[in-house]
Amino acid sequence: MMPGGPASPLAQLVARCGTEVIVTDPTALEATAVDHRRLYRGKPLALALPRSTAEVSQLLALCNALRIGVVPQGGNTGYCGAATPDDSGAQLVLSLRRMRAVRRVDALNDSMVVEAGCVLAEVQQAAATAGRFFPLSLGSEGSCQIGGNLSTNAGGVNVLRYGMTRELALGLEVVLADGRVLSSLDALRKDNTGYDLRNLFIGAEGTLGVITAAALRLFPMPRAVATAFVAVPTVTAAVQLLADLRAASGDRVSSFELVPQLALDLVLQHIPGSRAPLGGGSPWYVLCELTSARAEDPLAAVLESALGTALEAGLATDAVLAQGERERREFWQLRENIPEGQRRDGASLKHDVSLPIDRLAAFTERASAWVAAEVPEARLVAYGHVGDGNLHFNLNQAPGLPAGALAARETAVKRAVHDLVREHGGSFSAEHGIGRLKVEELQRYASPVELDLMRAIKRAFDPNGIMNPGKVLPRA
Ligand code: MLT
Ligand code: ZN
Repeated sequence: MMPGGPASPLAQLVARCGTEVIVTDPTALEATAVDHRRLYRGKPLALALPRSTAEVSQLLALCNALRIGVVPQGGNTGYCGAATPDDSGAQLVLSLRRMRAVRRVDALNDSMVVEAGCVLAEVQQAAATAGRFFPLSLGSEGSCQIGGNLSTNAGGVNVLRYGMTRELALGLEVVLADGRVLSSLDALRKDNTGYDLRNLFIGAEGTLGVITAAALRLFPMPRAVATAFVAVPTVTAAVQLLADLRAASGDRVSSFELVPQLALDLVLQHIPGSRAPLGGGSPWYVLCELTSARAEDPLAAVLESALGTALEAGLATDAVLAQGERERREFWQLRENIPEGQRRDGASLKHDVSLPIDRLAAFTERASAWVAAEVPEARLVAYGHVGDGNLHFNLNQAPGLPAGALAARETAVKRAVHDLVREHGGSFSAEHGIGRLKVEELQRYASPVELDLMRAIKRAFDPNGIMNPGKVLPRA
């Protein structure tokens, strides 16, 4: 007890956990206060940097007792503000960046156990060192952390073949809001023992507990690869081309990404060293990749022949195969740099939508026509993971307008786009989650039954509401 009254929550945290773990240095705090897209600026109470599951457990038990809100933050690369504290100055940012051990890799069981603070690229590398493949792959893999990937159920460019992060998790270690530890790191393939608790934490964005480690599923290393950049006339043609390529290759398509001309132009304009693979002038392009674990699989020949057929049928108007790894990387960099090209171009509104794949073209046509007619402040940059029915239906502010012109239309645009998504049987959040940005959207589009169950789950796991308050669900 301090003279004159109880110690402040911060003083109690420091007293119990030490200044090694509870950091108050303003520079360190500043780096955690703003989200990647700069949509939100918070004011953290402090930054917690625990070194072990035991320290996370001690910390959460204390926060629960003191009713301190805890905001888990991984690599801070999310798009919905889930990892940013509010501006109350009362929320603790929790980073597991010191917990980055690869606890084990079991090649025979095709699994590995890693701590949540591991950067995704480190996880991929550790698997590769053991001759296995961890397929989760996204533009931010050099800085995002596996704990964040799991908490947001991240997608990326290999979902078509391997599934979302949820499908890649065999088990989790989680610290609950009251400090208890729930662990299922045995890497079992089969375990039908009651409710699936693990899956509740995946995609919960840190609102139910803190993932501290995970058992992950590994795969045989791809040994043969063929990659092409293809000009296609329409989204309908792209969808048909995917079906044809899957059939022609014996389902070897691992990525199939749609890129409109404007997205390519933004990359060419803003990212030095970028080079257009084809002549240009096509409304759409597809970056597709076939992979196989058999080194001798003749994937380039399969791809070339399938693309020849597509050119004859008018499903494609031009195509080029990557000649070697360097060119393949160049193609991928064009795709992966789209968000950065967009960011450097200026303000944007993002919609991360998914549709049943057979309705993707109809949605794109309707929604694009709406934007063209109703939003003169915007240029449409709709791209994404067509193989998963997932489109990043993004709008960038048109050149020459005053700052804030597009942002002023945000509510109306979001409403129109998401209502159209619903009309076409889709989801308003395919892979980016809810965070803070889409809390209202979830309230609007989820059914009353779903919302009731979500609130009940939140109450059961976090009765005091300390875990990432106000994210996913509004504060109780
Ligand atoms: C991507 O696929 O590049 C990101 O998920 C998307 C975005 O910028 O909306
Ligand atoms: Zn994406």
